[in-house]
Amino acid sequence: MKNKQAKIIREIVRQNNLRNLLELGTYQGKGTAYMAAILEERRGPGTVTTFDREKCLELSPNVNEVITTMGLEHRVKINLHHRSFTFPLMKMLEANPRPQFDFCYFDGGHTWDETGFAFLLVDKLLKPGAWIILDDLDWTIWESEKKRGKIINRSYSDEEKKIKQVRKVWEILVKEADYINMRENEFGWGIAQKPYSKNMVMHNFYNTKYRFRKRLAKYKNKTSRALKKKAKKILR
Ligand SMILES: C[S@@+](CC[C@H](N)C(=O)[O-])C[C@H]1O[C@@H](n2cnc3c(N)ncnc32)[C@H](O)[C@@H]1O
Repeated sequence: MKNKQAKIIREIVRQNNLRNLLELGTYQGKGTAYMAAILEERRGPGTVTTFDREKCLELSPNVNEVITTMGLEHRVKINLHHRSFTFPLMKMLEANPRPQFDFCYFDGGHTWDETGFAFLLVDKLLKPGAWIILDDLDWTIWESEKKRGKIINRSYSDEEKKIKQVRKVWEILVKEADYINMRENEFGWGIAQKPYSKNMVMHNFYNTKYRFRKRLAKYKNKTSRALKKKAKKILR
């Protein structure tokens, strides 16, 4: 994660008062550290739960070292599995009470199978109104292999290798889950918000109406005739 990208996350976290953040794909913990620092800066409650494979601990520095050096251990929960985050995500779905998050940064396993399935699982762990970021919308296996100069995924067909698989998740799964405020940015990120449930929309509607009526009721006692008249009309 770059500094400019971290600033975007900071804005989303601060504007929406997000507390429980998820990250799929820890690697060395740079993104994890940025997010933990954003929560720390705001003080108050909040943690980052990050997922990767156990193998990521072989990196130097590894996530534990990065987080400890920065004094952010109390803000981070590291969840490692030998094969894939889809397994610990299943455990989370089974837990009682089920953990709830208000943000997820998808930055690991850019394939249709991994990101697609992870999205379906994570969606069940997200609160209404939670935010997601899908990294690398335009990533392809083809381009990645070309850059590295070697074949990484032998089991994929040429068609699969050329397809932007994260974009497919974005355009099919995220869209069809009725996510709102969908936007893309210059970093190849897809940013979207989980829809509020119908009940919550109604609740907010009545809440706003109630607050509005209360504010208007105040005008009734004001001296301005025009305002009084207006308030009377609306409150009728
Ligand atoms: C691009 S790196 C993450 C970078 C990190 N988010 C950051 O901002 O510094 C991708 C990571 O995803 C992990 N990953 C990919 N597929 C995974 C899977 N199915 N399960 C767990 N981890 C996975 C890789 O091991 C790798 O460390």
